[in-house]
Amino acid sequence: MISIGVLGYGTVGSGVVEVLKTNQESINKKAGQEITIKYVLDLRDFPNDPIQEKIVHDFDVILKDDDVKIVVEVMGGVEPAYTFVKKSLLAGKSVATSNKELVAKHGAELLKIARENNINFLFEASVGGGIPIIRPLNSSLTADEIDEITGILNGTTNYILSKMANEGLEFGEVLKDAQNRGYAERNPEADVEGYDACRKIAILSSLAYGMQVDYEDIYTEGITKITANDIKYAKKIGKSIKLLASSKKIDDQVYAMVAPFLIGDSHPLYSVNNVFNAIFVHGNVLGDAMFYGSGAGKLPTASAVVSDVVDAAKHLNRNIMSFWSSRKLELADISGAKRKFFVRIKKDKETTVNQVLFLFENVQIIEIPELTEEFGFVTPIMTEALYREKADSLKGILNMIRIEE
Ligand code: HSE
Repeated sequence: MISIGVLGYGTVGSGVVEVLKTNQESINKKAGQEITIKYVLDLRDFPNDPIQEKIVHDFDVILKDDDVKIVVEVMGGVEPAYTFVKKSLLAGKSVATSNKELVAKHGAELLKIARENNINFLFEASVGGGIPIIRPLNSSLTADEIDEITGILNGTTNYILSKMANEGLEFGEVLKDAQNRGYAERNPEADVEGYDACRKIAILSSLAYGMQVDYEDIYTEGITKITANDIKYAKKIGKSIKLLASSKKIDDQVYAMVAPFLIGDSHPLYSVNNVFNAIFVHGNVLGDAMFYGSGAGKLPTASAVVSDVVDAAKHLNRNIMSFWSSRKLELADISGAKRKFFVRIKKDKETTVNQVLFLFENVQIIEIPELTEEFGFVTPIMTEALYREKADSLKGILNMIRIEE
């Protein structure tokens, strides 16, 4: 029998308890032994919940109990999660976590401690909710040099953008709905400003490229400026708007960014809607691979956490995770990245179609009959720097969305 301690009885913590209860028999079979929750750490009490008999308020109770071989950290945030996880690993306990802030910031160090102690620091649930992506990158795609990871990595924003597109609603009208469904972070700014997706692409990139990618270095834009009018243009040109998190290796330089993109129906991420996440991976020998599934929510995330518990139980004294060096990977400046840009602009005496044609040359002009005060255009492929330079000389730009082809 293996005893585990769960740190945090919030959405994911209660999901872990539920998953272990629902699938107890098959989970035990797969782990090769019985897995029991011995403690649940939380500041609160839950008097009407059977979990109450396992609730402890002091982390040291879990740390000092040698029966506890696996610690599940589902508290979120860097502290006190980091201190608790580090102490657990140093005490010889494997850790399974869903905490992307923790992994993005301290992953290299925690993986190293786990390796030195012949135990495991596992974090399948930190990216893509219930989608297996960490395990494939760690143990399946090992024959490849990964040169691209592009994903829809945030369920909340994908849900919001899908609902805006389907129902013609404005951003603010759908945010509440996503929060009520339990997809959003405690502070939804982390979702809508792209910070959550940024941490997730930092984790995937660190794992794929074997070096520390600092999330602070990743250019990040959220979806708060996307309007119902942007979506009308997107539909007119047969594209959808998605918050993409990507890192691409081009000529040995890694370009990473998070931003809303217009993508066409031939793009593998075009049809990924609602709370679903998907991650497109390109390897130099594999070619393309796609991972798709439930990207947020209590049970999908808990499913990934429990799969790590099973893996940790099967490999109690053997480290199975690749680790990335704490040496920082210097990202390329995105101003050199090339692409097309979609721009919406106010129509007036100072900004005319002719002026735009003169400045950008081969543009595709897009007009929406009911939007009489503005027009849109798609630029030719150019660098971010050149786009900026030209856009700076135009008055009345309402929005710019990059195009991924
Ligand atoms: N808030 C996150 C999302 C939860 O919406 O994707 C899963 O990490």
